[in-house]
Amino acid sequence: MRFDIISCQPDLLDSPFSHSIVKRAQQKGLVDIHIHDLRKYAINKHGQIDDYAFGGGAGMVMMIEPIDKLLSDLKAERDYDAVIYMTPDGQTLNQQVVNQFSLMRNVIILCGHYKGVDERVRQHYVTHEISIGDYVLSGGELGAAVLADAIIRIIPGVLNDESSALTDSFQDGLLAPPVYTRPADYKGMKVPDILLSGDGPKIEQWRFEQAIERTKQRRPDLLNE
Ligand code: ADE
Repeated sequence: MRFDIISCQPDLLDSPFSHSIVKRAQQKGLVDIHIHDLRKYAINKHGQIDDYAFGGGAGMVMMIEPIDKLLSDLKAERDYDAVIYMTPDGQTLNQQVVNQFSLMRNVIILCGHYKGVDERVRQHYVTHEISIGDYVLSGGELGAAVLADAIIRIIPGVLNDESSALTDSFQDGLLAPPVYTRPADYKGMKVPDILLSGDGPKIEQWRFEQAIERTKQRRPDLLNE
């Protein structure tokens, strides 16, 4: 899967994609991430990519021209399944939305800044608008990193079997059950006996019950969906 991420603060995106699972996914050739500096498409030699809002008001608005030009360059090279705009007023991200994106081949993620992008960008170029939660970030970059990370970890082959994404919270509509590792007894704090029993089916049943219990306690809304 290929990600083209458009940003006016590309440095913010260096670290999230250079470690651990996401780094390995790129090394394995399963994921290709390209970060594009919107300022390279500035309308003048001062690097301008934003301007005052028509009608007045505080905050700058990202201009349509640099975005249009960058998108045109990308689209001339390949077809895209989605142009995703990161914005607090978009659809709230959840595992189902992540799963759908993970089936795509080429996606563009546009990171907003300041007061956001000129509305015509949203009307004419953007196909999906995504929020990572009901709070406002200083820009779309951290949201883009969250979205890309969530997608990448479920691409087949990215995780090995031991850490299979199928047992993640939300993947079956439930929160994940509790997990334990050695030692079995730490200062009197004991691991549930069932997990030491070696009885596979019983352990699976216990995990399922724990997942239901945890979901009931913490996220009853998930059980009613
Ligand atoms: N940009 C600013 N806030 C955001 C949010 N909550 N989700 C996605 N992009 C954003």
